[in-house]
Amino acid sequence: MEKEKIILDVDTGSDDAVAIVCAMLSDEIDLLGITTVGGNVELKNTTDNTLRVVEWCGRQDEVPVYMGTELSIAATLVPWGIQGMTLPHREAGGESEFSGIHPDHLPIPAPTMKTQDKRAAIWLVEKLLSMPDHSVTLVPVGPQTNMALAIRSDDRILKKIKRVVMMGGSHNVYYPTQGAEFNVWADPEAVEIVLTSGLDVTMVSLDATSDALLSKEQAAAIRAIGTKPASLVATMIEQRLGGAEGSVDYENKSVGAALHDPLAVCAVVHPEVLTDVWDTSCHIDLGRGMAYGETVLGRNYMLIEGPDGEPQNLPVNCHYARRADSEFFYNWVYDILIKDRDSRTV
Ligand code: RIB
Ligand code: CA
Repeated sequence: MEKEKIILDVDTGSDDAVAIVCAMLSDEIDLLGITTVGGNVELKNTTDNTLRVVEWCGRQDEVPVYMGTELSIAATLVPWGIQGMTLPHREAGGESEFSGIHPDHLPIPAPTMKTQDKRAAIWLVEKLLSMPDHSVTLVPVGPQTNMALAIRSDDRILKKIKRVVMMGGSHNVYYPTQGAEFNVWADPEAVEIVLTSGLDVTMVSLDATSDALLSKEQAAAIRAIGTKPASLVATMIEQRLGGAEGSVDYENKSVGAALHDPLAVCAVVHPEVLTDVWDTSCHIDLGRGMAYGETVLGRNYMLIEGPDGEPQNLPVNCHYARRADSEFFYNWVYDILIKDRDSRTV
């Protein structure tokens, strides 16, 4: 079966690291390259962390990394905060509960590999224009500044893109504001550019990723695989169990941690992992008020009557994933790591 050609756009962070491992090692995916963006941590660190992961898995000669942008398209937000205010994990020079989940430097060796000379948005345009029509799936799992810049720079790339499977958005579950999800909130205008581009967009939201928790026991089983990639994945799960991404039951017992980004990668090759998908209109609130960056689903024009006299619905432009199959997701991650181990021992 032909592999899915994808480009992964990351703000590496701990769950991005697991997404990179799965995309590199999966025998169902042809990872054309990785682009980096500021987000969980600053651009220099998201880029360094991305290089660390690629080299840790021994893919430095196969997977090129292109540095993208630090700042949002238009938002007053910068990835690590709002002017005059900072996100919890970016207290002025201090550490916070969030720093443990997305450390400036992942706990693996500093890279010797370098980024490619070309910057992300430039490479995206050139690479996509060189590809057959509708052949490449874009998988942004951080703020979507690079994708938006590429689309605005040369819309000829749109026909080269098969679809977009993004990690982002929220409806019932949200962080860091009472209605927004971080990747969208960090660059709302960028996501709206993607959502209004006419591309086929699947939104793997916080609702879905919060449904696919990975547990301490599953992390231990992954660590027992015994390879370097497996040890990194296990560590990334374990460090999220205790932090803001961890979930506890009513007895305050850990029931697992959400790893948002690898679920989006899984959904590219196994859409069946998403068990409740709502085809709806989806837009991002760009007003500079309290709802700035919120995901607005399923609205219609109340004052405009459609052909049947009903309020005119906004066009459907998104497949919004609300639920996910955690067992399927875990088995997908585990199988990738087992196959990788067996391929290393032959
Ligand atoms: O809201 C979750 C998203 O924000 C994930 O992509 C995580 O890595 C952070 O970027
Ligand atoms: Ca991310």
